[in-house]
Formats: sequence, structure tokens, C-alpha cells
Amino acid sequence: MEQYIIKGGQPLVGEVEIGGAKNAALAILAAAIMTDETVKIENLPDVNDINVLLDAISGIGASVNRIDRHTVKINGKGVSDFSIEYDYIKKIRASYYLLGALLGKYKHAEVALPGGCNIGSRPIDQHLKGFRALGADVDIEYGKIIAETERLMGKHIYFDVVSVGATINVMMAAAMADGMTIMENVAKEPHVVDVANFLNSMGANIRGAGTDVIKIRGVHKLHGTEYSVIPDQIEAGTFMFAAAATKGDVTVLNVIPKHLEATVAKLVEMGCEVEEFDDAVRVVSKGDLVSTQVKTLPYPGFPTDMQPQIGVTLALSKGTSIITESIFENRFKYLDELARMGANVKVEGNSATIEGVKAFSGARVSAPDLRAGAALCIAGLATDGITIVDDIVYIQRGYERFEEKLRSIGGLIELVETEKEIQKFKLKVG
Ligand code: UD1
Repeated sequence: MEQYIIKGGQPLVGEVEIGGAKNAALAILAAAIMTDETVKIENLPDVNDINVLLDAISGIGASVNRIDRHTVKINGKGVSDFSIEYDYIKKIRASYYLLGALLGKYKHAEVALPGGCNIGSRPIDQHLKGFRALGADVDIEYGKIIAETERLMGKHIYFDVVSVGATINVMMAAAMADGMTIMENVAKEPHVVDVANFLNSMGANIRGAGTDVIKIRGVHKLHGTEYSVIPDQIEAGTFMFAAAATKGDVTVLNVIPKHLEATVAKLVEMGCEVEEFDDAVRVVSKGDLVSTQVKTLPYPGFPTDMQPQIGVTLALSKGTSIITESIFENRFKYLDELARMGANVKVEGNSATIEGVKAFSGARVSAPDLRAGAALCIAGLATDGITIVDDIVYIQRGYERFEEKLRSIGGLIELVETEKEIQKFKLKVG
């Protein structure tokens, strides 16, 4: 079983290149099958979630040609199967984006129903509400969502919950509906905008992405395109909190600073110096960090996907911090692991009270999910001792060459599989 072993206590210093946004790329890859022409997508992150989705896409008959680690050509002409099996959905929930893509293009999609996951129960009622509003018959049979219709008709849709997934999924279907769809109370995340831009580059007519209202005039056909995915704001933010927690000085390169505003605001409140450039952000952490209050919210609020990373950093900051998690109910599991490293934390319902401590002590901890796993690595890097992180398969789902990037800014972290490798690392770091 692969693990990370970390010897922390050194500031992280240097520059790190941020890859393409995983969550934007997942939706864009699904949308790529909506034309019979070839689509070239660049700046893909080379992470497990992307590879699984590419398998699902070739599994239904599309041709998938991986040009290099970060570039793929997809041609959806050969799609002959409209059914996505549970095996894919189990590995990666976002395969449900094929529902919107297949329904939009073929007016027929069958996708296994995703269950809950480690961060909480994750209903998809808003996706289904949107498809039904467009005129699709949506049934659930044998654990599968079956959506079909003769034609999709544009409609005025008001979402009851701000959902990234529902916004993108319904936007894809509506892009190929007859007439005008107006979607209200939609998610404004940068990846919603990126998917809209991608669809527009294929000939769709989508306006207003990034605001509360998206207007879509349906088209009958989409065409091929070449598109580069936006930088990953969550990967960038993870390295920014790693800099803060280790009292380091790290510049994240190839980012869109505007997407990082909520993260930057919190880092400044906690006492970091943050310098913004055109496509880079530098975080310098000197002296003691101080507590703050955090509430996760849809964009442009503080992202739930950054909650564990700030939580770990606050656990080392002077004073009492309160984190309120308002998006997913089960996102504090990492705090139990952090308590094993000496953090002083108390969770009640959807809020966590964190009393800052001066230092953690190394321990063997387990990654409960993707972002929490990355956060525990940050904790290890800030700890003057040895930390072992188990279940890193979660981290590998969403971070490309995570340990290599951390090593390039001075992190002592290695991927190990055997006791012998653990001993070797311990000898090496003394
Ligand atoms: C996406 C991201 C995930 C991020 C989340 C919130 C991807 C692949 N994943 O997940 O990393 O943490 O946005 O920024 O992009 N909800 C409903 N009904 C629905 C859909 C959602 O009640 O039909 C609720 C959810 O339970 C949650 C909230 O809406 O409380 C937001 O979820 P949503 O934005 O849909 O998250 P995902 O798209 O699943």
C-alpha cells in the first residue's frame, strides 16, 4: 500500500507550477463528446480521476487519443452506447456529467446513480429537476438514471440549491435544446465559466456564466475546437496554505489570481504577506499566524475544497478559530486525524472550534478524502517529526505529482510502499 512519509519542520521555499483544474476538465471532457468533430483539450491534469473518465468516454465508443500527459483529442462520432456503468460512477462521481452531455446530443442517457461519498450525502435532485424541466422523462430503474425524450425544449429553471454539478450538467443538455433556457440561482465557480466558454467555442450560445443567471439559446449542432483548461485554484490554494503553515515563501505560477481572492483574504487575515502578479501569487509567512473565522460558501465565498487546508493552518495559529462548513456535512473527519498529531479541536454539527497549538507532533494518519489528505500532508510538512499518511490514493485522484512538487520547494516527502523504504527515508533525513 502506498503511503507518504514526511519529515517536516522546514519552511517551504520556491516556485511551483499549477496544473489544469481537475473539476473543470472533468466536465469539459464529458462535453467533448457532444460533437462528431474532433476536440483537442490541453492543460489537462494527469490525475487518476481524469484517466477514469477518459476510460468511461472510450467505453461508450468515443475515440480518445492521448497526445501527451496533458493533451487529449476526443472524437464523439463513434458513440454508440448511452449507458455509463456503476463501475465508473463508483470510482468517480463526476462521470455523471455524461448524463447532460449524452442527453443534450442524443436525447438519451443512462447513468448509474451515484451514492454518497466520504464528504457526505450528495443528492442529485437538482440535476434531475433541470433535465425534467427541459422535457426529458427521467426514471430511476435498478440503480440507474434513465433520461430520454424526443426533443429537449428550452425552459426557465430556478435551482433550489446552488450546485456546481447541476449547473454544469443542465447547461450541457440545454446547449442542444430547442429555444431559450434561463437558469437562475446557478453556481458561479470558475469551472462553470470554463465549461461555458468551452461549449461556446464548440458553437454553443451560452451567456451569463459567472453570474447568478445563465441564458442559453440552444443549437442543433456543435463543432470541433481546441481548448485549454483553466488553472486549478484548489491546487494553487493548497500550496499557498502549505507555505503559510510551514512559515515558508512560495510562489504559485500559472494561476488566475482573481480565482484565489477568498483564499488570499484569509491568508492576509491570518498574518501572511501575499503578493499578486499577472499569473502568479506569492505567499510569505513570517512570525506567528493568528486565528480567524471561516465559513465555506459557493464561489466567490471561501471554497469547501479548501476547508481542510485552512483548518490545518489554523490549528497552528494563535487564538481560537471557528470553521463553519455549510456545503458538505461530513468534511471534518481530518480533524480527528489532526488531533492525533496534537491539534486542539472540537467539532459540533457543522462547526469546528480550533484552539491553535504551537506545534504538532508526527503521527501515522489516514487521508479521509482528497482535500483532507492534502491537508494532512501540509500538517506533516509543518511538523518537526515523522508523519506517515495512509490512503494516499485519494490524494492521487486530484493532485498531479504532489510529492514531487512539494519536494521542488524543499519538502521532505516521499512515496513509500515498504517498511524498508520507510527506514531508508528515516536514515536519510536523520
Ligand atoms: C463540486 C466539486 C467539489 C466541490 C463542490 C462544491 C466537482 C467534480 N466537484 O461538487 O469538489 O466540493 O462542487 O464546490 O466539480 N446539492 C443538492 N442537490 C443537488 C446537487 C447538490 O442538494 O442536486 C447540494 C449538495 O449536497 C451540496 C451543495 O448542493 O450541499 C453543493 O453541491 P455541488 O455544488 O453540487 O457539488 P458537486 O458539483 O457535487
